[in-house]
Amino acid sequence: MARVALVTGGTRGIGAAIAKALKAEGYKVGANYGGNDEAANKFKAETGIPVFKWDVSSYDACAEGIKKFEAELGPVEVLVNNAGITRDAMLHRMKPEQWSEVINTNLGSLFNMCRPVIEGMRARKFGRIVNISSINGQKGQMGQTNYSAAKAGDIGFTKALAQESAKAGITVNAICPGYINTEMVQAVPKDVLEKNILPQIPIGRLGEPEEIARCVVFLAADASGLITGATITANGGQYFT
Ligand code: CAA
Repeated sequence: MARVALVTGGTRGIGAAIAKALKAEGYKVGANYGGNDEAANKFKAETGIPVFKWDVSSYDACAEGIKKFEAELGPVEVLVNNAGITRDAMLHRMKPEQWSEVINTNLGSLFNMCRPVIEGMRARKFGRIVNISSINGQKGQMGQTNYSAAKAGDIGFTKALAQESAKAGITVNAICPGYINTEMVQAVPKDVLEKNILPQIPIGRLGEPEEIARCVVFLAADASGLITGATITANGGQYFT
């Protein structure tokens, strides 16, 4: 039987590539999304992957959304926490809501999504959780105290839950993408991208979403049970941990 996979933020950018790659591997995939109905409907029409709208920064929305998802597709066996936002600003100009939106969406979502599925995974003695962190959670990034803090938190969460879950056959891993060719990176001011970021990437180019999806497919496999609590960096050599 095909395993059931849920990808948050799965209708655009890196998440869409992950959802498509898992489908191509034979998983029964559903994609969560937060707000862009037009993109989600287009994605659904193109891929045949069902889409589910809820806000991952809300615990109640996640609990309710996962209930609907599981009623349609079955219990979540592979969870990819990919949904994320940026609200870049130097700290001396950052508004409290720019802080809290990023923390709640990029870090709070891991609790909100994992808590409702973890008991089922433990009972079934199988689970794969993949958290999409970021190079900027590893190295810090000017203009991103909020994002860097949340993404570093994702790595700590991953390591703690990996320890709690190992005996139950559940692996929990993080992937730290570098700068990937998505709308999020295209939103970085062009001069900053060209002057400050691209020259720091030894392979001389942005990553592609499919290159991150490849890492997820690897971690999600039944055969990857040895790998847990790990952080895979995929950043073109920009930063080594
Ligand atoms: N790396 C190095 N230097 C940077 C930089 C960066 N990423 N971002 C800004 N700077 C530099 C600017 O070039 C500028 O330098 P100069 O004074 O020499 O020209 C200086 O910092 C101030 O920048 P701004 O004039 O743009 O100041 P601002 O207050 O208007 O904006 C900012 C500051 C919010 C940091 C803005 O520059 C910005 O958005 N930078 C991009 C930050 C970034 O890298 N975000 C990553 C988004 S992609 C992502 O998050 C995905 C992922 O996981 C990797």
